[in-house]
Amino acid sequence: MIDLHCHLLPNIDDGPKTWEESLEMASIAHQDGIKGAVMTPHWIQGTNWEPKSSTVIEKVNEFNIRLLDAGIDFKVYPGMEIGITANLAEFVSSGRILTLAEGECLLLEIPFYSLPYGLEEIINSLRKIGKKAILAHPERGKEFQENPARILDFKELGALVQITAGSLCGDFGDKAKKCALEFAKMGVLDIVSSDAHSTRRRRPIVSSGLKVLEAEIGSDKIDEIIENSYNVIGLKSTT
Ligand SMILES: [Fe+2]
Repeated sequence: MIDLHCHLLPNIDDGPKTWEESLEMASIAHQDGIKGAVMTPHWIQGTNWEPKSSTVIEKVNEFNIRLLDAGIDFKVYPGMEIGITANLAEFVSSGRILTLAEGECLLLEIPFYSLPYGLEEIINSLRKIGKKAILAHPERGKEFQENPARILDFKELGALVQITAGSLCGDFGDKAKKCALEFAKMGVLDIVSSDAHSTRRRRPIVSSGLKVLEAEIGSDKIDEIIENSYNVIGLKSTT
């Protein structure tokens, strides 16, 4: 599959600090059966984590060269994990923020406590310019944990749902796991990603989460989730 949400670029957010660590993370992902990944450093307006699009693209290009030199069969693509603000449609049109792998999808960070006011309007404004929102790890948010059916309001607006693989293994607590499984049973789950940050604590691994999920919803649904990860960046699965 393609990992659509992970922090593998060095020195850009709370991900790895060196290229060596970035390469080691890519190697771990590759061994886990992940074929490639979209780099999604945090982008939060008005903070130190507000990278320029050009910086992300340059680092991604350098990473691909380093992966080739290191003999790691792994391709990376540009993207961002975007903190929600009102002007996202304007920012994507001007190129200030990046879609995933230059496609039509934007990864929106869902806060852990309360949902941002007007999120529905923001998703609609993106839709008007031909962009699709992916909600990043809603199962880790209090609002969805308390009321998983709230996700349907966003699905109706055409948003995709991405959960963190570790949530399925209980890495983010029982409530996140329960909510992730509930989404799966409701049939609203589109994408499973690692949201990796390092080689140790939050690793670029999705297989253990997928195994938990497979026991709940069956292997056909897992194949669909894997296929979705390719579709989002406009590739066809070869597996
Ligand atoms: Fe993330």
